[in-house]
Amino acid sequence: MAESVLVVGASRGIGLELVRQYRADGATVVGTARDDAGLARLQALGAHALRIDVTELTSVAGLAWQIDGQAFERVWVNAGVYGPSGLNALQAPGREDFDQVMRTNVLGPMQVVPQLVDALAPQARLGLVTSRMGSIGLRTNGNGWLYRASKAAANSVLRDLAFALEGRAVCAAFHPGWVRTDMGGAGADLSVEQSAAGLRAVLAGLTPADHGHFFDQDGQALAW
Ligand SMILES: NC(=O)c1ccc[n+]([C@@H]2O[C@H](COP(=O)([O-])OP(=O)(O)OC[C@H]3O[C@@H](n4cnc5c(N)ncnc54)[C@H](OP(=O)(O)O)[C@@H]3O)[C@@H](O)[C@H]2O)c1
Repeated sequence: MAESVLVVGASRGIGLELVRQYRADGATVVGTARDDAGLARLQALGAHALRIDVTELTSVAGLAWQIDGQAFERVWVNAGVYGPSGLNALQAPGREDFDQVMRTNVLGPMQVVPQLVDALAPQARLGLVTSRMGSIGLRTNGNGWLYRASKAAANSVLRDLAFALEGRAVCAAFHPGWVRTDMGGAGADLSVEQSAAGLRAVLAGLTPADHGHFFDQDGQALAW
């Protein structure tokens, strides 16, 4: 039977490429976007497209009933924003930037995962796309500290989800690599095709021993 996949934050970039690759493999895919153009790109790939803004509780609350009765074997919670570029330690973020980054990258998964938990297939694999920039252990500079703080918090969210989902699903946090997207920029290391292919393979290969850990797109375990 075809694999069933949900990608939250799939209008463009890595999320859209995940949808494209899963569809190319014959999977049944539900993808989310915020605007008509993103929804149309998903529909063009043969995905079922849902309009979800992860920062808005009313929007996220609609997710549960829209996917009611489905059983996803693979779930990606991918939506994210970087916020202001070039914001380094000792440069305080403005309140609007702080709220947008934290609401998207932290509140987002905290709101989304509870809404989809009943739609997880037994032993589903769930990936939360965070970032190596959120790792405290691997940190070598303080560039982009608002984004870093949000992704460190997202990693914390994943750890707590791992306790809540124990025995029900296998979940992990993922760094997708430095990827040529609107966020990663044209000079990044990886194409979306390379990143998404790696992420898919690592997610598919997760064992219960990997539950609650942090990996990159090559399957390397990362320090928190
Ligand atoms: N690119 C990199 O090098 C890199 C490195 C490390 C981690 N990451 C992480 O990888 C993930 C994907 O990044 P990307 O490079 O593909 O970035 P991107 O091209 O900027 O795409 C970001 C995606 O997140 C969605 N999104 C943003 N805010 C949202 C919201 N409030 N509700 C729902 N969806 C929302 C966007 O939808 P809209 O089109 O509606 O804005 C878009 O689909 C992010 O979590 C990012 O932090 C990326």
